[in-house]
Amino acid sequence: GDVTPTSETSGAGSERAYPVRVTIVGAGDVGVACAYNLLTRSVCSELVLVDVLKDKLKGHVMDLQHGGAFSSTRVTAADSYADTAHSTVCIITAGVRQRPGESRLELMARNAELFKHIIPPLVENSPDTLLLVVSNPVDLLTNLAWRMSGLPRHRVIGSGTYLDSSRFQTLIAQALGIDPISVQAMVLGEHGDSSFVYRSGITVGGVPLRKCFDMLPQADSSNGGFDGLVDRVHKQVVQAAYEVIELKGYTNWAIGSAVGSIVSAILQDQRKVVPISTAACALKGLESSDVFLSLPCVLGRNGVLETLQILPYMDEDERQQLRQSIAVLEEVVKKP
Ligand code: NAD
Ligand code: LAC
Repeated sequence: GDVTPTSETSGAGSERAYPVRVTIVGAGDVGVACAYNLLTRSVCSELVLVDVLKDKLKGHVMDLQHGGAFSSTRVTAADSYADTAHSTVCIITAGVRQRPGESRLELMARNAELFKHIIPPLVENSPDTLLLVVSNPVDLLTNLAWRMSGLPRHRVIGSGTYLDSSRFQTLIAQALGIDPISVQAMVLGEHGDSSFVYRSGITVGGVPLRKCFDMLPQADSSNGGFDGLVDRVHKQVVQAAYEVIELKGYTNWAIGSAVGSIVSAILQDQRKVVPISTAACALKGLESSDVFLSLPCVLGRNGVLETLQILPYMDEDERQQLRQSIAVLEEVVKKP
C-alpha cells in the first residue's frame, strides 16, 4: 500500500519525514543474512523484504519480527513493489546461485532475465534510491542495473570485492597471528576468478606489510616470504566460495556482514573507503571502459562520492591484472 509519512520531524522544523526504509529484494539465504545483519545494527527504521515465494517470505519476516524486542528496526514483507516506495537503499540479492563447481559468470543469462522484473518497478517506486547489487555475477549485474535504472552512476553499486577483501584480511591475519582489523588490504577487480590483490597497499597498523613482515609473531620468511604468503592467501580467497559451496551449498554470513557495513556507511554518511563495484571509467586512464568492477571508493549518503585514483600508484603487474579483469568482464558482455 501507500507509504504513510511518520509523525517524526526532521530537525527543529515541522516538515514530516519518511522513515529510513531499506528494501531487500530476494529473501533467500543471502537476503536474510543481510536482513539479520542490518537488524542488529539498527541503522534504518524499516526493512522491507520482497520475494516471489510468498510463504517463505512470510515465514522469514515473521521469524525476524519475533526478535522485535531487541531491535529498533521494523521488518515487513512487501505484497507488491508499492510497499517498497521511498526506499533510501535497495539491495538486490534475488537470483540463482552457483552449483558446486559452477563459476559466477555462468549465472549471467538467468539472473539478467530476472532483473527485467525487478529493477524497473523498484526504481519506479523509489526514484531517488541507491541500488546495491549482490546477486552474481555482481559486476555485470551492477552494470545492467545501472543501465536499466536510469539512475546516475554514483547511485548504483555492487558489493564487489569488499567480501573478498575481508576474506583476504582475515586469512592474512590468521597466518601472521594478528587481529584482522589491524590488517588493511584490498582485493580489487572482478568479484570472481580474475580478482587481484593491491599488494603494495597492504599495511599492518599503517606500516607496509612488505616492510614489517619479518617482525610479526608467526611470519614465515621461508616459502617466498611476503610475496609467497600474498599469493597463497589470494588463491585461497579465489577458492573460498567454491569451497564453502561444496561444503554447505551456498555462502551467506560473510556477505551479510559486508552488506551491513556498506549500508551503514551509506546511511550514516561515513565516507568510508571501501572496494566496491563501480564504473571503471571513473578512473583516469580507463575513461573508455564501460565495465563495472571493484575499485576503492569513498562511500557516503549520496553513493560513491569519489573513486580513488590509484592507477599511478599500482605497479605494472597490478595494472596488467586490472586490465585482465576488465577483459574477462568485457568478454562475457560480448557473448551472444
Ligand atoms: P537463494 O536461492 O537462497 O535465494 C534467491 C531468492 O531470490 C529466492 O528466495 C527466490 O525466490 C528469489 N527470487 C527469484 N526471482 C525473484 C524475483 N523476480 N523477485 C524477487 N525474488 C526473486 O540464493 P542465495 O544463496 O540467497 O543467493 C542469491 C544470489 O546472491 C545468487 O546470485 C548468489 O550467487 C549471490 N551471492 C552473491 C554474493 C556476493 O558476494 N556478491 C555472495 C553470496 C551469494
Ligand atoms: C561469494 C559469492 C558466491 O561468497 O559470490 O563469494
